[in-house]
Amino acid sequence: MLKKKGEEMLKIKELKCEHLKNPAGIGKRNPIFSWILESDRKNTFQAACQVKVCEENELIWDSGRMETDCSIACVYKGPELKPLKSYQWSVTVWDDQGDSAEADAGFITARFDRPWKASWVEPEQEPAYGQKGDFHDVGATMGVHTDLRGLDDYKGFQPVQYLRIPFEVKKPVKHAFFCATAHGVYEIAVNGIAPDDRLLAPEISSYHKILQYQVYDAAGLLREGKNVISVKLGDGWWTGRVGCMGNACQFGDTTAFLMEGQIEYEDGTTDHVLSDDAVSSTGPLLVADLFVGEKYDARKELDGWETAEYDDSSWKPVKKAEYPYDNLQAQAGTPIRIIRSFTPKAVFTDGNGDTVIDMGQNIAGFLSFTVDAPAGNVIRMEHAEVLDKNGCFCKNIMGANKDQMDVYITKDGRQTYQPCFTYHGFRYVRLTGWPGTPKTEDFTAHVVSTDVEDIGSFETSDPKINRLQKNIWWSQVANTTGIPTDCPQREKAGWTGDVTVYAPTMCFLRDEEEFLTRWLGNCRAEQQEHGEIPTVVPFLQCYKEINTYYGSDTSCGWGDVIVSVPWNLYMAYGNRDVLKENYGAMKKWMQYVQHCAENEMPEGYEAFDENRKERQKYLWNTGFHYGDWLVPSMLKDNRDDMAMINTAYATKEVVAPAFYAYSTNLMSRIAEVLGEKEDCRYYKELNAKVRQAFEAEYIDSDGHIKSDMQGIYVLALKNDLMSEELRPKVVRRLLEKIEENNGCLDTGFLSVPFIMDVLTENGCKDAAYRLLWQEKCPSWLYEVNNGATTMWESWAAVREDGEIEKHSFNHYAYGCVGDWMYRELAGIKAEEAGYRRIRIEPSYDCGLEYVKGSLKSPYGLIRVSWKKDNTWSGKDNAADPETESRKSVSLEVAVPANTSAVVVLPDGQECRVGSGVWKWQQETKVRVK
Ligand code: BGC
Repeated sequence: MLKKKGEEMLKIKELKCEHLKNPAGIGKRNPIFSWILESDRKNTFQAACQVKVCEENELIWDSGRMETDCSIACVYKGPELKPLKSYQWSVTVWDDQGDSAEADAGFITARFDRPWKASWVEPEQEPAYGQKGDFHDVGATMGVHTDLRGLDDYKGFQPVQYLRIPFEVKKPVKHAFFCATAHGVYEIAVNGIAPDDRLLAPEISSYHKILQYQVYDAAGLLREGKNVISVKLGDGWWTGRVGCMGNACQFGDTTAFLMEGQIEYEDGTTDHVLSDDAVSSTGPLLVADLFVGEKYDARKELDGWETAEYDDSSWKPVKKAEYPYDNLQAQAGTPIRIIRSFTPKAVFTDGNGDTVIDMGQNIAGFLSFTVDAPAGNVIRMEHAEVLDKNGCFCKNIMGANKDQMDVYITKDGRQTYQPCFTYHGFRYVRLTGWPGTPKTEDFTAHVVSTDVEDIGSFETSDPKINRLQKNIWWSQVANTTGIPTDCPQREKAGWTGDVTVYAPTMCFLRDEEEFLTRWLGNCRAEQQEHGEIPTVVPFLQCYKEINTYYGSDTSCGWGDVIVSVPWNLYMAYGNRDVLKENYGAMKKWMQYVQHCAENEMPEGYEAFDENRKERQKYLWNTGFHYGDWLVPSMLKDNRDDMAMINTAYATKEVVAPAFYAYSTNLMSRIAEVLGEKEDCRYYKELNAKVRQAFEAEYIDSDGHIKSDMQGIYVLALKNDLMSEELRPKVVRRLLEKIEENNGCLDTGFLSVPFIMDVLTENGCKDAAYRLLWQEKCPSWLYEVNNGATTMWESWAAVREDGEIEKHSFNHYAYGCVGDWMYRELAGIKAEEAGYRRIRIEPSYDCGLEYVKGSLKSPYGLIRVSWKKDNTWSGKDNAADPETESRKSVSLEVAVPANTSAVVVLPDGQECRVGSGVWKWQQETKVRVK
């Protein structure tokens, strides 16, 4: 291919430092660099690269030309990086076709171990009400309605604190980096302008061990003379109400702030701006609770308080507080932001006479509005996810957080309100107190999430399947706000089991590498003395109390997150560091599991024969576990509050040993990747013993497994818990169980992610498709048919009789079929970690007319699109003319530079290709749906 003048054949895109584009706050001494290559030529590989790093135009590291094809993890090996410095880096790449390219980017370092000059400060305030960890606080026990509609009912809530830190800039500024964090949540501005658009800083983490501070580049916002930093400080996760019960004060009962600004003048001298010098006041935000919502009185606005000229002589000085610094870690990672805003779909009056705003989509976020009003109007917005059977506004959520409400008291004139320290899970808003007739254009819905990039796209000829993938995306967005959460309304909690189940899909849809890697740091921080990984991370006090009730801080499947998620991340993004970083914690977790298996014996142990006694030490079959949580048949039409937990009790004995097998298998693979040969052998052997013990203990010679539930068969097959001889019988029993259940799945949290793979891999593709196309309850399309716009916690959240259950309508767990659809229907599979080698193997016979799927892998965009052409080759030659036929299929595949792919063509032949766009048209056997 000839190069035209001025045209480069090779391009370098997406330069990242520690998986981030131009990050501020890099805390690693040896960060890694990565980039994506694009070439106009086919079959292109990187032959060599060279990385250079500069500190203020001065070269500090030159890697020299490295003959390597590695483009996803080049480690910085130059001199020690300095704290709070801006660095520029560049990479030159030579490919194997004789082309080369160069590109550059930047990063700003964290404080590293530089001591803070600034003090923690507390504004004068009443402590928030609610003892730390008080299980029955605020009258908000499970199911009890705390109606906050009366204006004076916010007992124990404290107003937002407004802080000002005036300072002088004396000379022309070269650099200015401000570091800030809070006990609570804060918003900062420099001379009235926010240095970035993040929300809810410092976000949630395991505060006692990890409290993120943010690094702001503020040079552009300063001016010579008088300046001011202004800060709003709210309750957040520190003092606010959290969890199902609405417990307050999980970390403390007062809010605090810490900030240090470092100004470097052009003449080389420096100045510091410190939180110590802050003064504080209260203002219009009377209440700002993350869950409950805000109450804002516009009549109390502090006009001009964010300007340097404002007279703050009546404000009070803050007091210094003794809080630790050793838990502080810079947040270089992607912040929470508004990621999308749109006008609601409709405003209507429901059968109860209530004015209801419909977003048209269930979201996590908030609603802003503009209104013309006289002073003193009390506008209330109550948020909920569904309408009741009769189309009326209803609060379906159990627990304290059903009352998600924002209250705004108007000032005079045209005004806009947008909440800042809360977010809700909602589709509908009941509106009261609006002056005149509300119109959709008066409102804007804002979607809030950690603002990572979408990397997947998926479209088929079936609109319902497309809606399902969309719903999965929406639930992921709603539940990746700082940490992976279970749901955005009731709990906003880092339930670990939900992540175990959903992480593979999560990694397909959005670039969650840095996000999940960061959260794993919290998992390590929360690992208990004996190796338990808690069921909720960060492990809030209120969840510790729930666990005390159940008698365990962890559970199978939930704690296994420490093994499965690093593995999922490694497979999706190809970086071994995540395995290395978590390896110690994984081993500690496995030791805990092994200890339980070896030392805690099931009831009746004394009477077991010797063989049975002997194998107990390989079975993790005691203690509390959530097991195959929420088995649909046990919940369906069962409104007993105990129904949910009964699913745990009914399945835990068999699910826990299956997960012991799951994690020992992964451990042997992880140890192999890390070159830990001895460990690899050890876990392989242990895994074999666990599997044998399971078969002997739980599987009958006819393939029946104890508890005889669908999910158990799925887990047994997934983890090879039976001999090859028994396998067909177990598969048969699973198919029977599906048949007995009306052709519907009956899998709980821990087995549902595997059911489609297990069926596909055991020669039962038909059964898998049947589950996918199924529309009866429970099924994925049942939800779609019932108007779902997100994934539900329970399949029957809308019952067949139209009644609404008190489950969440925004739990991503059952969205775990998402990655199967990418892998099976579009056929995008990683043959090597990070898609360095790809397998493209679409299911042309799945019954769809076309599928288009793409994934932006760490090497670039993988794209597959296949389509049945309109030409039939006739039914005569089909094996079963009722369900099968032959059809011509066009296939187009794009393979990124620096990778290769094996493509399974419509005629079944395999073809190995390098990078570039490839097209085929062939006949294949197809299913008639
Ligand atoms: C959460 C789940 C979680 C479960 C534990 C629920 O309240 O919402 O998603 O995993 O508890 O079993």
